[in-house]
Amino acid sequence: MTKVAPSILAADPLRMYEAACLIRDAGADELHFDVMDGHFVPNISFGPSLLKAMKKEFDLVGDVHLMLTDPIKYVEAFSKAGADNITIHQEANDFVPCLEKIRSLGIRAGASLKPGTPAQSLRQVLPLLDRVLLMTVEPGFGGQKLMRDVLKKAAELRLMGFRGDIQADGGINGENAAELAEAGIDTLVMGTAFFGAEDPAGLVKKVHAL
Ligand code: DX5
Ligand code: ZN
Repeated sequence: MTKVAPSILAADPLRMYEAACLIRDAGADELHFDVMDGHFVPNISFGPSLLKAMKKEFDLVGDVHLMLTDPIKYVEAFSKAGADNITIHQEANDFVPCLEKIRSLGIRAGASLKPGTPAQSLRQVLPLLDRVLLMTVEPGFGGQKLMRDVLKKAAELRLMGFRGDIQADGGINGENAAELAEAGIDTLVMGTAFFGAEDPAGLVKKVHAL
């Protein structure tokens, strides 16, 4: 079953409670929580306090994506806020020590690659990873166009022996979801497509059937 992780980056910031209800009621699998520092990416989003509030009210899996230059400074705060998975960028500072810190906190560890970073760059750390997040857009903003040449990284990761979850993030919708599933992507992050959908539950059902 292909899973769906709606990104609240695409939700109305004034209606985060309703966004969480929508993710829950649509039967989505995880809440994708895009954290941006205005330095690693040219945008600033939200912090641990919003995650904490959402996890207090909702039984949703917290899939935290740290688009930060220094994620090691924040993993503890997101873990305390209720993160179930923390994904950091291979291009960030202290990449390996930060992965080890996430694992020491007893939560799932993920590594994300910008479109231009090869899958090969993760070869040494695959044993530390529960998830690899393939950015199918340049990170920083929702609503961009899917970069299809990234998809071959899924097969490359499997050839390297990676058995964990492969996730993709950026420009994903009901029309291209099947192509990503065929490319071996297990979990689809959807922001614009999910929060703009007429029928979010129908979209989730369609993806689950892939
Ligand atoms: C980019 C963000 C987006 C967002 C989803 O840094 O991570 O990819 O999650 O974007 P859309 O709206 O394209 O699904
Ligand atoms: Zn993301």
